[in-house]
Amino acid sequence: MIFYFSGTGNSLYAARLLANELNDTVISIPECINSNKFKFELKDSEKVGIVTPVYFYGLPSIVEDFLDKADFTKSSLIYLVVTFGSFTANTGPNAQKYLSEKGLSLDYIFSIHMPENYVPLFKVPSKETCQSLIANAKNSVVDIAKILNENPPGDYDTHKGRFPSAVSSLCRMIYKKGMTTKKFWVDDSCTGCRLCERICPSNVILFHDGKPCWSKETCPRCLACLHRCPSSAIQFGHFTKKKDRYVNPNVEFDL
Ligand SMILES: Cc1cc2nc3c(=O)[nH]c(=O)nc-3n(C[C@H](O)[C@H](O)[C@H](O)COP(=O)(O)O)c2cc1C
Ligand code: SF4
Ligand code: SF4
Repeated sequence: MIFYFSGTGNSLYAARLLANELNDTVISIPECINSNKFKFELKDSEKVGIVTPVYFYGLPSIVEDFLDKADFTKSSLIYLVVTFGSFTANTGPNAQKYLSEKGLSLDYIFSIHMPENYVPLFKVPSKETCQSLIANAKNSVVDIAKILNENPPGDYDTHKGRFPSAVSSLCRMIYKKGMTTKKFWVDDSCTGCRLCERICPSNVILFHDGKPCWSKETCPRCLACLHRCPSSAIQFGHFTKKKDRYVNPNVEFDL
């Protein structure tokens, strides 16, 4: 089983490719959470994969929530594949520590460089760069499947960057304190199509007077609403209005 979380499609793309390589199935983490499904029938020695983006040099809060409740007792191996835009810092080792505190082991750690989607701070790379990253990602998935089948467990993430431990500690604090939805707003180009309401993995967006409202104080900040709005009407703070939006061009979303 391969559990995935994805805001803009990179991790979904990687999860689907990996499932194809390993003859496995993908399962959406938000769907598990929303249907209260945390117990899974695993075959003996079945591998369990977690595929997720890196958020603030660690796991998205929604993935942590899922791992807190998930029951993988019969699984022989758990592996983590993170997709990221710049580098990963201590995402893998921190996830390993986090899982071991819950009595789970994290045996393999992998990372895949993908297009950056954190537009409140950065720009989406050019179309050419995105295409080249996505093409390389395909090769990385083949390598990961090979390692999972042939190599011993280990940390295979080679994209940690400098001072990974310090970077992750600092940025995790910022993430946990700053998950507020207060900075989201919608401009006049909103057509009221309600796509943002349907796709929000944490059911944060509700409609009021024909416009979306962020009904909870915090959210995982996946930016699915912002990037997938057909009118680019959703903004975060002051710096996203002129920025391009990004969705992995090779992915068709189920929702
Ligand atoms: C809230 C948020 C935080 C992010 N933090 C990081 C980060 O710490 N390091 C990094 O390399 N990329 C970071 N990114 C970029 C994503 O990890 C990257 O674009 C990822 O492939 C997106 O995956 P998805 O399309 O499956 O959502 C962040 C993106 C978001 C939305
Ligand atoms: S997806 Fe965009 S256009 Fe559609 S309702 Fe949401 S903000 Fe408005
Ligand atoms: S409100 Fe937007 S950023 Fe927050 S979880 Fe929902 S889709 Fe993601």
